[in-house]
Amino acid sequence: MPCSVVLGTQWGDEGKGKIIDLLTDEADIVVRYQGGNNAGHTVVVGDAQYILHLVPSGALRRDKVCIIGNGVVIDPPALYKEIVELEEKGMSLKGRLFLSDLAHVTLPYHRRMDEAHEAARGDAKIGTTHRGIGPTYADKFGRIGIRMGDLLDEQVFMSKVRRNLAEKNVLFRDFYHVETMGEAEILEQYRTYVPKLREYITDTVSYLRDAIKANKRILLEGAQGTFLDVDFGTYPYVTASNPTSGGACTGAGVPPNAISRIVGVTKAYTTRVGAGPLPTELPPAEDERLRLKGREYGATTGRARRCGWFDSVVLRRAAAINGLTELAVTKLDVLDELDSISICTGYQFGNEVITEYPGRLEVLEKCTPIYTEFPGWKTDTTGIRKWEALPVLARNYLEAMEKMVGVRISMVTVGAERTATINRP
Ligand code: GDP
Ligand code: IMO
Ligand code: MG
Repeated sequence: MPCSVVLGTQWGDEGKGKIIDLLTDEADIVVRYQGGNNAGHTVVVGDAQYILHLVPSGALRRDKVCIIGNGVVIDPPALYKEIVELEEKGMSLKGRLFLSDLAHVTLPYHRRMDEAHEAARGDAKIGTTHRGIGPTYADKFGRIGIRMGDLLDEQVFMSKVRRNLAEKNVLFRDFYHVETMGEAEILEQYRTYVPKLREYITDTVSYLRDAIKANKRILLEGAQGTFLDVDFGTYPYVTASNPTSGGACTGAGVPPNAISRIVGVTKAYTTRVGAGPLPTELPPAEDERLRLKGREYGATTGRARRCGWFDSVVLRRAAAINGLTELAVTKLDVLDELDSISICTGYQFGNEVITEYPGRLEVLEKCTPIYTEFPGWKTDTTGIRKWEALPVLARNYLEAMEKMVGVRISMVTVGAERTATINRP
């Protein structure tokens, strides 16, 4: 079967970009299936670093087709900027980038609404990326969204914008007490960017149907992660889409029975950016040590990522929800210098020991992790390229992880660069 999914198993930033870039080598087509330019996927090739927000991470391989699926929300100026930046680095997307006509469009009023929502939440703010993602999906499900296909006709587009602005401006003025927005601003943006993007807009669902028939190899790229999923994450501290594997079907228009491989990407520890519970979060000094070594600063917003130990409760849940067929473990090298490393095996909740991830935030917030400690390998792993060459203590740690999660590790990465990768036989 031709389709593989690559997705995040934690709170995003697991290193999906790197894994997708690697697996694209064996694919014909890469499809982003959800999220928007809240994502930041880093790919390092030689000395060059690329951060992709909307364009699939497979784009750096010049002969591959890239699709932005119907489940993604697209901010036209942000996408155009990315296309131009890639072109300037010699990576043309002409003729090999396709945008779904069913994907929803993020407009300036969505970004303003995102900021207004966050300000109004005060201390309870989500810590969003302020890219307008939540409000765009809210309009999609409220059935007042504007789709990429609507951009092809200025009159259709502007009549929908007019209707939406009438409603948003009442909220901006009377509820959030922020500036209202005029249609001229949106029309100007439309006239600047739509002529540049029109050629890419197409029916990607039929394209993928034909590709599946022709047995093309398709990689479905998730953004964010399982615990930022609007259904399965730490709600309401989540994003507004479904990064989990089911989202790959609805967000690309690919049927479940076309998918045979589901790769869950996990860091060898845990990070989270933004607010919300993180059960294994470390106290400031230890958190700082992982952040500095792992360079844990957001690829989209530059914010410091919160760091903690690997949580097997979370990963078991991710394995079940996504139907993971394999695990890719990233950033093992970040743990190289530590004397001891812990894995969370369960949570203490009052007098109870919980090994099943609790869906309710009120319970999760009162859980304290129960740890098993592992001795550190205290060896530089960054030059290692073979599983057998890893220090025994590092292999013990990885084998304990896969045993607790119940999914085989097929890849381990020991550096950001493309080649700093161990494929397990
Ligand atoms: P994504 O959003 O899941 O694609 O991940 P990000 O790109 O936001 O964050 C992952 C970060 O870790 C990036 O800066 C990568 O270059 C870096 N990275 C990926 N794999 C490794 C690794 O094995 N070791 C180290 N040290 N860095 C890595
Ligand atoms: P990648 O694809 C990490 C987080 C935000 C915030 C929450 C909601 O690079 O892994 P949003 O702007 O989506 O409404 O914010 O989700 N968030 C991410 N965290 N990696 C990401 O993407 C993220 N995209 C959104 O920090 O907590
Ligand atoms: Mg990221």
